[in-house]
Amino acid sequence: MEADTELWQAADDLEEIEIDLLLEGIWRRYGLDFSDYAKSSLRRRIRHMAATEAVPNVSALSERILHDPATMQRLKSEFSISVGAMFRDPPFFRAFREIVVPILRTYPNVRIWDVGCGSGEEVFSLSILLHEEGLVDRTRIYATDFNRAALEQARTAMLPLAKMKDYTANYRESGGTKEFSSYYVAKYDRAAFKPNLVDCVTFAEHNLVTDGQFNEFEVVICRNVMIYFNHQLRTRVHRLLFKSLVPFGVLALGDAESLRNVEFASSYERLHPTVQLYRRMH
Ligand SMILES: C[S@@+](CC[C@H](N)C(=O)[O-])C[C@H]1O[C@@H](n2cnc3c(N)ncnc32)[C@H](O)[C@@H]1O
Repeated sequence: MEADTELWQAADDLEEIEIDLLLEGIWRRYGLDFSDYAKSSLRRRIRHMAATEAVPNVSALSERILHDPATMQRLKSEFSISVGAMFRDPPFFRAFREIVVPILRTYPNVRIWDVGCGSGEEVFSLSILLHEEGLVDRTRIYATDFNRAALEQARTAMLPLAKMKDYTANYRESGGTKEFSSYYVAKYDRAAFKPNLVDCVTFAEHNLVTDGQFNEFEVVICRNVMIYFNHQLRTRVHRLLFKSLVPFGVLALGDAESLRNVEFASSYERLHPTVQLYRRMH
């Protein structure tokens, strides 16, 4: 029994070395730094990728990744976990409508940064909400992600038609009162969103590990992105988000996130008892 445990430990240690070498190789070959992503989640995703690529171990996967940029793009998609849903966590969108929208009405122009927008579910939801609240003409949404494939998908403004039933339920639960199907047309198995929903959106590549501030915003939405980062990278990103917010700007985080152990926590005021919405006070 003890011998078995030792064997497992040795295999784990070896895999740890292989993963470190893979990350080092990706950094040197592609300039992408994943060293501050949470280790357990990286390990799970690398194992999954090795299985789908049908290679026996991480070293074999490394070789393929270093020699083939297309495999690297697949790994990036694997790491980016870009699963999203429209009006995900409906109470968040309800609180946004009830608390943030009145704040936004006080600004002549509104800039929103949707950080880690994935394939666009969150940004389309936001755009629908802003249309309904009559704010879209004075708003520009900057939707960024480091995953080019996800951004390309987002730019098409199309999502699987099969998901619309769930998204309609989320929309209603979030306080939406219009006919949700009026926002898209069915094209085979896709729902094509009305072009005016993306007119107010600028999509761009931005990597939270390496890229810096590019504007100031009245609202920064960074939901379910930092959960994959370690403490060091989270600290870097929180600094970036703080610097990117105008005074009295609003920060939105995901349901499983908070400002606990964040250096700027005392500079924010919480706007809602349960939803992760904060206002930068100084
Ligand atoms: C789980 S999705 C969240 C999507 C959306 N914000 C939501 O809550 O529905 C996480 C997103 O973070 C992006 N992401 C991961 N690492 C990133 C990085 N270093 N820079 C920018 N985006 C990143 C992924 O590509 C993915 O689209």
